Amino acid sequence: MIEFKKVNKTYSDGTEAVKDFSLHIEEGEIVTLIGPSGCGKTTTMKMVNRLIEPTLGEIYINNKNIKKYNIHELRWNIGYVLQQIALFPHMTIGENISVVPEMKKWKRKDVDKRAEELLQMVGLDPSTFKKRMPQELSGGQQQRIGVIRALAADPDIILMDEPFSALDPISREQLQDDIRKLQKEIKKTILFVTHDIDEAMALGDKVCLMKGGEIVQIDTPQNLILHPATDFVKDFIGERKSPWQTAVDVIAVPDDEVVLSQELYKKGEYDEQKIYFVIEENGTYLGTLQYGKLIDGETLDNNIPLYKATEALQSKEKLPVLNGNKLVGVLSYKLIVNYLKSKTKVENGVIHS
Ligand SMILES: Nc1ncnc2c1ncn2[C@@H]1O[C@H](COP(=O)(O)OP(=O)(O)OP(=O)(O)O)[C@@H](O)[C@H]1O
Ligand SMILES: [Mg+2]
Repeated sequence: MIEFKKVNKTYSDGTEAVKDFSLHIEEGEIVTLIGPSGCGKTTTMKMVNRLIEPTLGEIYINNKNIKKYNIHELRWNIGYVLQQIALFPHMTIGENISVVPEMKKWKRKDVDKRAEELLQMVGLDPSTFKKRMPQELSGGQQQRIGVIRALAADPDIILMDEPFSALDPISREQLQDDIRKLQKEIKKTILFVTHDIDEAMALGDKVCLMKGGEIVQIDTPQNLILHPATDFVKDFIGERKSPWQTAVDVIAVPDDEVVLSQELYKKGEYDEQKIYFVIEENGTYLGTLQYGKLIDGETLDNNIPLYKATEALQSKEKLPVLNGNKLVGVLSYKLIVNYLKSKTKVENGVIHS
């Protein structure tokens, strides 16, 4: 989908901001870019929509060199959230969100509907906020508008440069959730810059760690922790026994919403639209009930480490954890993320256990 081929950027004063940068982002993937201040993250990102031109190398989108696209079309199809919020000060919030859909000549009522949907998505009541001016919003609220404005015209690619940095932890988590959901449903391709290693790990299918304009390591979150390429990587994410090594049954929980007794199953007392894990009275797992059909669903052994479970959980929302043939709990992606958060403390971008 997006491919950097040996990209270099040297600014006119001789600063080598990005060096020999090669990266392939698949369609529907989230890659998080992380690294110390000044390592070239923003420069890398701005080269994708040609706000900055590389000095050397090429960038391709859908196998076509970005120089071959009409620049306006290129930019309209790439949502961009800037590191510094830049809402148009003389336009209302509603108008700010609608800029790109209008350039794309969407129908008035579709533009309005979209703006309202997006405001609701980030917890801002459209009837209050649509008519306000940017300076009548708090910093965090403006940041949320910046995020949804980038999503407004439904672009295939979204570039986000530290979009959540001014938000409180709860709004931040909410928006992270929204981004993940959105990406699951409509498979956006996202390049996401952050200073927060937890955020990088929680959001990224892959995490790209940079230093001095170069990629030090690009890998899945679990591999970055388990197989750091250099001491810099180790220091950056913090040396510790990784919580990813924890056995899954430590964090699996009983979950009444998805565990169904054999008795209720036989009586047909369940919602056919949902997925259940059916158990006998003594806890023996019988199978997974999917749209009214009992199948040999996927399960997790109680003693496998978390990092192995995350792969299975990429396609399933929840999975049953078994000790032998007995169900001991249910595991979800969210539980894993919360657990990892509880196990770590971040100071200046470095994780401490
Ligand atoms: N227009 C410019 N002219 C000269 N040097 C620049 C220019 N823009 C950025 N730089 C330099 O290029 C390097 C990379 O900057 P960039 O903004 O890409 O870093 P960053 O990783 O996004 O940092 P931060 O985390 O602080 O946002 C820095 O050394 C910066 O000073
Ligand atoms: Mg930056």
